[in-house]
Amino acid sequence: MDIFGFIDLPTPVVLLLVCISLYVYFMSNTHGTFKKLGIPGPKPWPVIGNSIFAFKTGMFNTVVAGYRRFQHMGGMYGTFEGRSPILTVTDLDMLREIMVKQFNNFPNRRKYATMDQPMVDKIMFNLDDDEWKHHRALIKPTLNPNRLKASYPRVEKLLRSMLAVMEQKAKSQGGQLDISLPIGCFCMDVIAGIGFDLDCNSIGNPKNDFLVKARNFLDTFGERTFSFSLFVPHFVKHILDWFGIMIMPKKDVLFLREFTRRAIDVRRSEKDGQRGREDFFQYMIDHSVVRDEKKNGNTGPSTKLLSLEELYGSSLTYFLAGYDTSAKGFFFAMYHLAMNPDCLKKAQQEVDCVLQGDFPNPDNVQNLKYIDMCIKESNRILPLGPYVERRCSQDTNVLGRHIPAGMNIRIPIAGIHYDPNLYPDPQRYDPERFSPEASKDRHPMAFMPFGAGPRGCFGQPLAMLLMRVGMAAMLQRFNMAPCGKSEYPIRIIPMSDLVPEHDLWISLEPRQ
Ligand code: HEM
Repeated sequence: MDIFGFIDLPTPVVLLLVCISLYVYFMSNTHGTFKKLGIPGPKPWPVIGNSIFAFKTGMFNTVVAGYRRFQHMGGMYGTFEGRSPILTVTDLDMLREIMVKQFNNFPNRRKYATMDQPMVDKIMFNLDDDEWKHHRALIKPTLNPNRLKASYPRVEKLLRSMLAVMEQKAKSQGGQLDISLPIGCFCMDVIAGIGFDLDCNSIGNPKNDFLVKARNFLDTFGERTFSFSLFVPHFVKHILDWFGIMIMPKKDVLFLREFTRRAIDVRRSEKDGQRGREDFFQYMIDHSVVRDEKKNGNTGPSTKLLSLEELYGSSLTYFLAGYDTSAKGFFFAMYHLAMNPDCLKKAQQEVDCVLQGDFPNPDNVQNLKYIDMCIKESNRILPLGPYVERRCSQDTNVLGRHIPAGMNIRIPIAGIHYDPNLYPDPQRYDPERFSPEASKDRHPMAFMPFGAGPRGCFGQPLAMLLMRVGMAAMLQRFNMAPCGKSEYPIRIIPMSDLVPEHDLWISLEPRQ
């Protein structure tokens, strides 16, 4: 093909060049957004925007570095992930407006293509507006303190199994143990047990299908989500949907759905009240279209029943949001303590003094104030969501700053947690930062490992219970210390969802 009368190129090459040019134009034509709004930010590259740094060092470090660089430039800065503009807000008062006071203008999150496909799009994280409100109102009572207390005997049984496995494993490994494995299995078994009345037995068999599939889904989530949103325009997901192609591993999603379907069949085949089940899943079934027809009538907090697809979504939400986060929260907090002998000693003394040899339970762990400080400090250093997001639903004004409808807002939790003005020498592990005196004047948005406002984590009571009883039980039974294989501080695989680069080895021996 003759171009401009002097370049002669084969037609396929010309077509390819046209496609590339259109792609580059489409991926970059949003990149003037922040300049027009007068918002500072680094210059974007064509197509990928500002994501080079994230590729090199990971999202966690990107959030911390961006916050440091732009913190004093008017409370917000703009970057681009692929063609998507992201407005990161660093001012804590503005964040309180966005997440709490003006929540009605920021009720939803950004739609990532990975979670916007059939079979996974009903996960609560992803739901918008009324659908989200309805779902959240329904699911929230499943984790109220009374329900959690009622399920505690099952948690205690699993906790005792975990302690026995730890002791036996450490013995067979010369007194050394990677704590991430037994703690991960314990959390999976708790979620399966109190959520679905299911004996998953990951503690006895860490290679069971369920754990492997859930892990595979979760471990690839961050990378797939980021890569897709960077290079592929969102509309492409409609083409994939049409061909039935999933961005997340389809076989793992199908496995988890099949599990839910079988569980529904079991519950339906049981006569009313036969097993007297009171778990999360039964509650959701009782409020869904698959419930026993005899129960038509009052459906509790809402009159609208969940569809079958929503029931699948809520089960996936419970498993995926609940298992990984509580496991990481627990083993990171325990590892930090084991690596800091003075803090460990203090925590152990508190457990001995407060529990007086009783096994930990939801009531007696309420008095473990120092353990709570240790959990908070671990959550500060490694917030499991280094950032969270909201989407602006209509043109609005936040403390004098205009925010246009549709803008993605990023809340840089890791940046805030590493701000030396809020936490001097932020790399250092120091639970005293969370003593009542040290924290009393801190801004309420200066610490948000569970997010904030009506869209904050709904699993916090369960996560806190597991961390408190789990850590107290381990401190009661074992002496712990760094060992030859320990690596500290904890390093994270750059593009992962806070997956540690190395196993979490400690020396562990039963206390006399
Ligand atoms: C240490 C453990 C945990 C941490 C650090 C954590 C952290 C978070 C964070 C940062 C968010 C986003 C909040 C926001 O956008 O403001 C979130 C949301 C959520 N978490 Fe957790 N979480 C934990 C445990 C759990 C557990 C055990 C469950 C369930 C059994 C759970 C279920 C959820 C759900 C469903 C949401 C979405 C809420 C919504 O969109 O309304 N989380 N979590």
